[in-house]
Amino acid sequence: MKRELFTTGSCLSKMFLILFLMISNYNAFSQTLYNEFHPGKIWKDDRGIHINAHGGGILFHKGTYYWFGEHKVAGELGNTAQVGVHCYASKDLYNWKDEGIALAVSDDLQSDITKGCVLERPKVVYNKKTKKFVMWFHLELKDKGYAAARAGVAVADHITGPYTFIKSYRPNPGSMPYYASGTPDSLKVNCEHPGNFSDEFFCRDLPGGQMARDMTVFVDDDGKAYHVFSSEENYTLDIAELNADYTGHTGKFIRVYVGFQTEAPALFKRKGKYYMIGSGCTGWAPNAARWFISDAIMGKWKYKGNPCIGEGSKLTYGGQSTHVLQVQGKKDSFIFMADKWAPKDAIDGRYLWLPIQFKGEDIEISWKDTWNLKDMKML
Ligand code: DGJ
Repeated sequence: MKRELFTTGSCLSKMFLILFLMISNYNAFSQTLYNEFHPGKIWKDDRGIHINAHGGGILFHKGTYYWFGEHKVAGELGNTAQVGVHCYASKDLYNWKDEGIALAVSDDLQSDITKGCVLERPKVVYNKKTKKFVMWFHLELKDKGYAAARAGVAVADHITGPYTFIKSYRPNPGSMPYYASGTPDSLKVNCEHPGNFSDEFFCRDLPGGQMARDMTVFVDDDGKAYHVFSSEENYTLDIAELNADYTGHTGKFIRVYVGFQTEAPALFKRKGKYYMIGSGCTGWAPNAARWFISDAIMGKWKYKGNPCIGEGSKLTYGGQSTHVLQVQGKKDSFIFMADKWAPKDAIDGRYLWLPIQFKGEDIEISWKDTWNLKDMKML
């Protein structure tokens, strides 16, 4: 009898063990494994939850891609930062592991990044000299709409965080733009006689620093980093040099496409040329993308029109640029990353990733329902 009880008990505990293992592995069993991109569709992470990294960017580090973006909550409340910056990791770009919140908003009401602020378009870069990871983002102070127009910066020793918030401010107070030698005075901003709206805003903000909204960060081959942001009430884009540790501005910057309201900048470099894709300025609603090319980061950027072609191209297929990702180990392969915003239910925002095609030095983007990295042209 004793023996029977013992046997029954052992059977039961085995069953419980199996049940426990099945429940705890449920997510592993139910995990969607991807081998292609499905632009605009729900994209589940390793826990089966739609990836929550909006307005994001990707950093490749030691064999892994890390995707950082705005963690949005449901409803319109999600248009403000209730949680912080979310990080995911992937080896193949299709399947993403949740690495948690890299930078959390603060419970301290006095903090610039207090819960309820607006914290958008975070981008992380790695500084080889300091061995720190540096995160820049667009910050709006809580309950002040989009009036603050500040750049925020945070640093971490480990790529996934936690990131420590350092400061937020308007860049380059007191600094005039950088002009290539030979630029005629008629093309330079003149605060005695501002030539247009954008110049007026520039001159207004000169003492306290320039407005900094939609943004990205670009690290050049020589290790110099640049903060690229919509400024002057969004009328102009600034490309501004960062200091050696990437946590501040040097005061050297240029103004690009003055007066034409470019948002959502994303930069990349190919065959020695600098490329930038951006958008127009229509709130959360989509508009036509635009692209630019230049021989030098602080050089003359040439406007090249809409890179998107085909159906939906006039509205960027419903999206807005956030980053261009160079695929590692594949020469000449770049992915255009865009957000399809859902301002009524922010957490439902979707990701549009599309391959960039090159025609000589020109670029084209076209819609694809599904595609994979093998489709990318290898040169
Ligand atoms: C468009 C910007 O690109 C977004 O990041 C966000 O700031 C919305 N405008 C807010 O309307």
